[in-house]
Amino acid sequence: MEVQAYAKLNLSLDILGKRPDGYHELRMVMQSISLADTLTLTEHGGEGLRVRANLHFLPTGERNLAAAAALRFWEARGQEPEDLDIAIEKRIPVCAGMAGGSSDAAAVLRALNARAGEPFSPLELAKIGERVGSDVPYCVLGGTALAEGRGEILTPLPPLPACWVVVCKPDFPVSTPELFAQADRVKLRCRPDTRGLLAALEAGDLGGVARRMYNVFEDVMPPRLHARVAEIKNELIQRGALGACMSGSGPTAFGLFDREGAAEEARAALRERCRDTFLCRTV
Ligand code: C5P
Repeated sequence: MEVQAYAKLNLSLDILGKRPDGYHELRMVMQSISLADTLTLTEHGGEGLRVRANLHFLPTGERNLAAAAALRFWEARGQEPEDLDIAIEKRIPVCAGMAGGSSDAAAVLRALNARAGEPFSPLELAKIGERVGSDVPYCVLGGTALAEGRGEILTPLPPLPACWVVVCKPDFPVSTPELFAQADRVKLRCRPDTRGLLAALEAGDLGGVARRMYNVFEDVMPPRLHARVAEIKNELIQRGALGACMSGSGPTAFGLFDREGAAEEARAALRERCRDTFLCRTV
């Protein structure tokens, strides 16, 4: 069985506060895009659960979110783990703020649910995903959605009007827990206009959405790294993007375009700078 695991972008990300459980209260507008990993699930003889990927440094055991998701699924069904091989062809850059691992986990949940004859509704499946990671419930549902709470309280939104998305991941790592810790230490100076963004989605106003995109982590990153993200955003805007933003805890930045030609040129220019540059559509 083959399934696609789509990357997500944050059209906005706001941190509302820290919770007693150590997580943060978030408000985010999420969008899935055509950049995707492909997962192939195969039954095999007697070797339990196996995960492999075309990237050697990904965990292969239960620390891989795809395996964790399979185990949670069987647990929710009250059954023993099966003999299953999960082969992941990764295209979504890892540690990029695009929920690649969470999306793989969500794809496993959807595939196992389909194979079992849909015992769980999409919302029940998203609930099972909560225990695997904060972004997994959104990845189960996909599309355009408002994510609140830890990220698990989801409200479907009108789809982002059709556009081209240029995605560019600079070549430095960021630590999500460290960025959250830094966000706790500083006062957030600039916040996204989430309400305005939701109204623009409601009105089908692509430019209105693009102009309001903002992620509070951009201001919290070390200035030297933020400068690299800002350079990419500037280049996207100069090449005709209607707006540009960082996704998740970064460092990926992206721009929305209403003209394919401009998007293609932006992709080609940024590709000179970053190998991980993609031209995508929304899903
Ligand atoms: O849930 P997940 O394992 O994906 O989260 C990774 C890390 O991100 C957590 O350990 C936590 O430090 C941080 N996080 C948070 N608040 C959220 C989501 C994630 O502080 N709502």
